[in-house]
Amino acid sequence: MISSTQVVTLARRPRGPLRAGDLAITDQALPPLRPGDVLVRNTWLSVDPSIRIRLAETTPDGYLPPFALGEPLAGLALGVVVDSRSPEFAVGQHVSHLCGFREHAVVRADGATLGGYGGLSVVDTLDHPPQWFLGPLGSSGLTAYAGVHAVLDVKHTDTVWVSAAAGAVGGLVAQLSRLRGATVVGSAGSPAKVEYLRERLGLDAAFDHRRSPLTDRLAETVPAGITAYFDSVGGDHLEAALDAMNPGGRVAVCGAIAAYDAETPPPGPRNLFQLVSKSITVQGYRAGSYNDLLPAMQREIGEHLAQGRMHYEETVFDGLESAPAALAAMLEGLTTGKTLVRLDENRS
Ligand SMILES: NC(=O)c1ccc[n+]([C@@H]2O[C@H](COP(=O)([O-])OP(=O)(O)OC[C@H]3O[C@@H](n4cnc5c(N)ncnc54)[C@H](OP(=O)(O)O)[C@@H]3O)[C@@H](O)[C@H]2O)c1
Repeated sequence: MISSTQVVTLARRPRGPLRAGDLAITDQALPPLRPGDVLVRNTWLSVDPSIRIRLAETTPDGYLPPFALGEPLAGLALGVVVDSRSPEFAVGQHVSHLCGFREHAVVRADGATLGGYGGLSVVDTLDHPPQWFLGPLGSSGLTAYAGVHAVLDVKHTDTVWVSAAAGAVGGLVAQLSRLRGATVVGSAGSPAKVEYLRERLGLDAAFDHRRSPLTDRLAETVPAGITAYFDSVGGDHLEAALDAMNPGGRVAVCGAIAAYDAETPPPGPRNLFQLVSKSITVQGYRAGSYNDLLPAMQREIGEHLAQGRMHYEETVFDGLESAPAALAAMLEGLTTGKTLVRLDENRS
């Protein structure tokens, strides 16, 4: 058995936007396998905004704890079992788990989950490319599917605004809503992304959120207002959504990425009374609470992708050494679709 592996660690806590140098690549000893342990050679790493939340000194109540200085980061990953002390996992199986940001990982067969999602599990890579199980058939897919089907319950009569719509979750939310017959408006952070939303994802309208004020952009794009908003951003986006919302509208709060890199939190919406005056429902949620939807989500999104009704986009970085830059680029808005790190499949 190999005795050590390369890992990405927290070198210093970022102040403001993450810089690749805030993270380091180091060698770490691998513990001997105990009963219930599985040794996995990672092949794909998921690059998620939630990692940035855990680089701060403290994390919000109810969330995962911060990473300690020098501690390896952890995130969703795919890999191949190379040794196993668990009867449930055999050498050669493809698995997903939560010990990403390293080349090899010793994973507990019954280990911790992300609020219910992400425990060690076998993935069937026969019908789909393996990395889809980190994106549209994995955590991003479950988050989007839960948001559209369970939280917003999007209908054909809806006009839905999807923020961060050129990203992993937002792109799926926008397309699932379109497939439900809704009118879908997406926002993203560059003219190229706006074109991608219109041309590749087939949205009804799209606009650049960096051309503020957002309230004016929304009023221009959807003069009749919106009936549902999918929020990945918080701050000014949530405020603009309340201004544009029709009475009885719904908001799904999935994330608040505008705050993750900020040294001081961005101001909250100043127009919260509109929740009262327009009888707006706001629901925050975590994908792990909707694990029961995973089989239906994989079947439905898998079919949409296979039959060309949905488009999947990914931005891939190669090698563990690229992981810090991948995380910084995703947070800065320089990637489109699902951001991934691919590890060399020819390693032992
Ligand atoms: N609730 C859950 O269980 C759950 C699970 C997964 C993810 N999430 C949340 O879902 C959101 C999207 O995650 P993802 O994995 O799909 O990431 P992603 O959208 O692929 O990447 C993040 C994108 O956010 C946009 N962004 C960054 N800063 C922004 C700002 N200040 N204002 C507006 N947009 C900004 C950037 O795109 P632009 O170029 O368009 O600005 C960037 O590409 C995040 O908030 C994440 O925390 C929640």
